[in-house]
Amino acid sequence: MWSKNVSLTDGTLSLAGIPAAQLATEFGTPTFFIDEDAYRSRALAWDNELKNQFGPQAGTIFYAAKSFICTAVAQWIADIGIGIDVCTGGELAVALAGGVNPSKIEVHGNNKSVAEIDRAVSVGVKSIVIDSLFEIERVAAAAKKHGVRQGVMLRLTPGIEAHTHEKISTAHEDVKFGFSIASGAAWSALEAVTQHPELDLRGVHCHIGSQIFGSEAHEIATDRLMGFMAKYRDSYGAQLPELDLGGGFGIAYIDGEETVEPSDVLPAIHAAVLAACKKYSLAMPIVSLEPGRNIVGPTMFTLYEVGTVKDVVLENKSIRKYVSVDGGMSDNARPSLYDAEYTAIIAQRSSQAPSVLSRLVGKHCETGDIIIRDIQLPSDIAPGDLVATPATGAYGRSMASNYNHVPKPPVIAVRDGKARVIVRRENEADLLALDVKE
Ligand code: LLP
Repeated sequence: MWSKNVSLTDGTLSLAGIPAAQLATEFGTPTFFIDEDAYRSRALAWDNELKNQFGPQAGTIFYAAKSFICTAVAQWIADIGIGIDVCTGGELAVALAGGVNPSKIEVHGNNKSVAEIDRAVSVGVKSIVIDSLFEIERVAAAAKKHGVRQGVMLRLTPGIEAHTHEKISTAHEDVKFGFSIASGAAWSALEAVTQHPELDLRGVHCHIGSQIFGSEAHEIATDRLMGFMAKYRDSYGAQLPELDLGGGFGIAYIDGEETVEPSDVLPAIHAAVLAACKKYSLAMPIVSLEPGRNIVGPTMFTLYEVGTVKDVVLENKSIRKYVSVDGGMSDNARPSLYDAEYTAIIAQRSSQAPSVLSRLVGKHCETGDIIIRDIQLPSDIAPGDLVATPATGAYGRSMASNYNHVPKPPVIAVRDGKARVIVRRENEADLLALDVKE
């Protein structure tokens, strides 16, 4: 749950040698802290294991920007040499601002605007992942306008539903993304793409879900996508070169969960690709992945300060301690949106007090503003205590809102005992900046 450079000694949490109290004094709360070294090593571990398994056929690790992106992180990605998956013009702008080479950018989205497509084509992104028939025409038009042959992938729906702890179902077609293989929509889309000489169909893509443990779902998807590639080969006499299996690899949020490591799943995925090569008489494709949560999720924690504590007597006469911190659903929407679970600790002191049933809540005007529904916390927790929640790197800051006009927290990168701002804290001026006064 905690990233590799976090230490917990005598009740004090430190990141890369800097204690939580010092971090809070210097940067305030609530704040996201990212363990830069952990981020870099997680990203590299995916890249290395992909190369290790697939050798010359290793494609690209496209870090999923939606999980968290800012210019500095895009610079780290450029520096590490992996790629990036963007799904809006905004994410593309940040990737470019960070110096990511367009040849390592893949563009997603089920409703890319004409302007977004135009920008992507004009800067020379590696591929655009086609998600609708309209888009085929739009990308072809943009390619024609810019006088290029644009690399495209087809987003396929392999009929797999995979989520944490849920059984993988054999068919899941009722989604807005992609073209269904089973219904024939995927084949029609492929035929439409091949009508356009401006489009260079590189291969097929799927993304089957998020926070998935194990590799079974990706293995099934591999077989279905490669079956589709075989059908292409049989009809067109040549093989599509690329296969992109998306992201979705799970991380530990609470005790008892274990973060998926690249070496846990890539050997099985490689074996599944090999098996499909054999089954369909295909050559080994170039294989890419798009992990987001798995890279950044474990590398950040959020530091809050407790503002109030309230004992509420429940119907059964037991007591629940409501511990309110200075953030909440505006910096972590996941518990209220998905019933996501987190854990927390007091970060600046140890306590011998007995633990009591507590609920960690935010400062928003809403009952559902809960960060942790049930947690045992020391009964002496009090205003001024610092509380840290681990594994908030993915879909935390990236889904932050200004609900109740709360400024979004900053992101501080910490490495080798040095901390620096990579996204500054919003302030009152930011909150007012877009309003037009009458
Ligand atoms: N590739 C595509 C095409 C995707 O749609 C996604 C995530 C990813 C890659 C990265 O998936 P990851 O490796 O991060 O699981 N807001 C939700 C998660 C939504 C994921 C959407 N797509 C959450 O907070 O759990």
